[in-house]
Amino acid sequence: MTETRRRWDPVVRIVHWSVAAMVLVNLFVNDPEGSAHEWIGYIVASLVALRLLWGMSFARGPNHLRDFLPRRSGIAAHIAEIKQGQYPQLGHNPLGTLAIYTMWICLFLLTFSGWGLYYTDWDEPLEVLHEVLAHAMQLMVLLHIIAVLWVSRKVRHNLIKPMIDGKPLN
Ligand code: HEM
Ligand code: HEM
Repeated sequence: MTETRRRWDPVVRIVHWSVAAMVLVNLFVNDPEGSAHEWIGYIVASLVALRLLWGMSFARGPNHLRDFLPRRSGIAAHIAEIKQGQYPQLGHNPLGTLAIYTMWICLFLLTFSGWGLYYTDWDEPLEVLHEVLAHAMQLMVLLHIIAVLWVSRKVRHNLIKPMIDGKPLN
């Protein structure tokens, strides 16, 4: 299988599952006042930055960012595809790209506001921002998982498997 036939390359997959695990830990498990919370937050931001740099440079095919810039025409066409039970073989679904960019931005803002809570005097507004973003992130993760499961059912392809083994949908 050539790299362009591969659906998700190892960088995308490792970053995805590491980010997912760490975000869940920061959202639900550890003490937000502790240093583990701070460092996990920085690692998440670094991984997202790595993903974006990778997506603008060496990534091939559907892993490259140019392959999933949100476009209105793509989104409309994709909604029509899902209604007919079809799904593109490679790449992100054009509707999902909106959610992906929103999650990346939200993760950066979470880290930035978290950092500001410790190292600036703007505690009050940043605390509110950090909490609002954390709740928004919880909602987005929930919607993301529901969307992946729902689309998988609708188009009768398991979308989670390619994010684990990298192979195209079968
Ligand atoms: C905190 C938890 C999570 C976050 C922040 C998250 C975030 C993301 C992001 C940013 C992407 C785009 C990947 C990229 O191009 O680099 C993505 C894709 C994906 N995620 Fe997650 N994810 C989370 C949890 C999960 C879970 C639990 C599942 C499995 C049920 C999952 C399944 C997938 C799949 C299948 C894709 C590819 C979707 C497609 O085919 O277009 N994610 N996720
Ligand atoms: C993936 C990134 C992050 C996530 C998902 C996250 C999530 C959360 C959540 C869920 C809370 C509890 C909010 C509440 O009280 O309802 C919280 C609080 C907090 N976080 Fe984060 N956080 C992240 C990154 C960071 C970073 C990088 C720092 C510091 C450098 C930080 C510092 C704090 C602090 C100080 C609080 C306590 C705020 C308070 O006084 O209530 N966070 N965070």
